[in-house]
Formats: sequence, structure tokens, C-alpha cells
Amino acid sequence: MTQRLTLSRPDDWHLHLRDGAMLQGIAPESARHFARAIIMPNLLPPVVTGAEAAAYRDRILAVTGTGFTPLMTLYLTEATDPADVVAAHRDGIITAVKLYPAGATTNSASGVRDFDRVRGVLEAMAEAGIPLLCHGEVTDPEIDIFDREAVFIDRVLDPIRRATPGLRVVMEHITTTDAVNYVTAEPEGLGATITTHHLVINRNHILVGGIKPHYYCLPVAKREIHREALVKAATSGDARFFLGTDSAPHADDAKESACGCAGCFTATNTLSILAHVFEAAGALERLEGFTSRHGPAFYGLPVNAGTITLERREAPVPYPAKIETGAGPVTVFDPGFPLHWQVMPA
Ligand code: NCD
Ligand code: ZN
Repeated sequence: MTQRLTLSRPDDWHLHLRDGAMLQGIAPESARHFARAIIMPNLLPPVVTGAEAAAYRDRILAVTGTGFTPLMTLYLTEATDPADVVAAHRDGIITAVKLYPAGATTNSASGVRDFDRVRGVLEAMAEAGIPLLCHGEVTDPEIDIFDREAVFIDRVLDPIRRATPGLRVVMEHITTTDAVNYVTAEPEGLGATITTHHLVINRNHILVGGIKPHYYCLPVAKREIHREALVKAATSGDARFFLGTDSAPHADDAKESACGCAGCFTATNTLSILAHVFEAAGALERLEGFTSRHGPAFYGLPVNAGTITLERREAPVPYPAKIETGAGPVTVFDPGFPLHWQVMPA
């Protein structure tokens, strides 16, 4: 008998759709399976005002059509105007605000250096119930890249949360036991997204047997014990953890380079990979919570009305190795094992 899994239509709570020819080429990969996604604002230049977010939303909708809902975010800078943030949220233009420590990742140069300078915005957000989404890595060159998430929790995140009671926070793309433990210690107001690729790879996958640029992303994958903690958190049924793929396309020439860009492109095969990971953990019945229920609960949004069905195939399910875009080919994340769960056409 064919094994079949029907889920409420999933959402992606952390997604990079880019702009222009790249947007055109890769947005359909997300819109095919996901009903909504939190759209990252790290364009060049970044999306910093409500008006820019509204214009970007319209460019996305022009590609995807209205069957997909982009939930927009603003890129927090030291010059962000609290009144603009609150108005954009009140008018339904934005869902959240994104904090990039300056220099932490792709297009983060306009991010925050001095956290005291965004105090007023954070207080206005707490008051208006606007979530803060954190790229949780310090940028201090003294701190080892594998320790940057853990240090961010102690030096930045915890002090911000203590100083701003009521501020709802999502720790984005968590990669460590430290982050899992920090989130599970908090009864409310704190959630975390987990990516598809961090459930699959550890740092050996990037570095052993030759460098694998398509496994390089930020935060960088850590030791196996951390990956295991992420799988445990994602498959636990704990509603504080939900899917944010962080699918982050870069054209192959920008990845396969002497100074390669960070980002894994997982939009195309994420659901097949997640079904594999949850099945291996004996937790298939908890996949829907992770992909479709915990995120809306955190954001106070309804669960999607539609459904999506996956079927388990004996033979490996094919997927394209690359997506051709007007900005060049983009390599689809290779989990390193055959996929057997196929998303059925709607
Ligand atoms: C993201 C990108 O390419 O925009 N890259 C990544 O490695 N995840 C930025 C980010 O989310 O850090
Ligand atoms: Zn990201």
C-alpha cells in the first residue's frame, strides 16, 4: 500500500527570494509548495521602509500570483524610524523586523553595530506586538566562527530580551545545542526557526574530502552533536520550533569561487527532505506541526486551509540538480541520500 502523508499547507518562516531575474527564476520553487513565507529584506540596497516593503511585495506577487502570500519584513538599521515600522505593521504591510548584526552575513553591511541605537524601535515593536527576527551571530573578529551563535545569545540576545519585556523574538536558523537550550528554557515570547539543511549536514559535510561550497551557509553548520540536537528539537513536537528553510539562492559562479557566498538553496526539495528526516526519527506524525502549525501559532495567524500530499515511493524521487534562472544556474541542495517522499501535484 502506498504510504501517503497529507499536511495542512506548509509555510516557510525564513526565505530569501532576491529580486529581478533571480526572483523570477526561483520564487515558483517556493510558491509550488508553500502558502506563505517570511521574506528576508537583505536585498541590495536593503528593504528598510514600509514603502520599500510594499513595492517588494508587489514584485514578488507579480511572479508568484496571489496563491502565495509573502509576509514582508523590514531590515533594521540604526536609522530605522519607529513610527514607520509601527505604521507599516498597522497597515498590514509588514509582519516582522529583521536584525542583522552588521557584517554577519550576505548583504548585512547596513545592519546594527550599536544595539543601544535601536532601543527606541525595539520598545515600539514590543508595544505594538511586532516580532524581532534575529540573525544570531556576533561579528567580533576575535570570536571563532563556530562560537558566534552561542556568544550572541549571551552578549546580545539575552540583554535585549531582558531590557525589552514583551518583545517577541525569533532566533533564526539555529545551529547549536546552546540555542535549543536557550529557547526551551523560555516559556513564551521566544521561538526558533530551523532550516532543512541544518537538519541534514554537519561541518564535516562541508570540509571533509574537499570543500563543498553548496553546503556553506551562515550560520555555518556545526558538529554532529549540534545537528542531532536540532533534529531532536524539530521532531519533538515542541511548538517553539518551526520551519524556516533559509533557502538562499546564489548563482553557481558566486558559490563556486575563491570567496564563495553563503547560502543553501533548498526550496525545491525541502519537503521531501523533511519527510525523510522525520521518518528516520520516527516522528512523521509531527512533521505537520513543524511545517504548518507551530509557525502560525507563534505569529498569531490561522493555519492554512489547503493541504499538500506526499507519497512514499520505492524508487528514489528525481529532482532537478539545478534551477536555470536569468541570473544563472542555481544548484539545488543535495542532501547526500536518495529521497523517497514525493510531493504530489495539487
Ligand atoms: C543568506 C543569504 O544568502 O542572503 N545566507 C545564508 O547563508 N543563510 C543570509 C542569511 O540568512 O544569513
Ligand atoms: Zn537567511
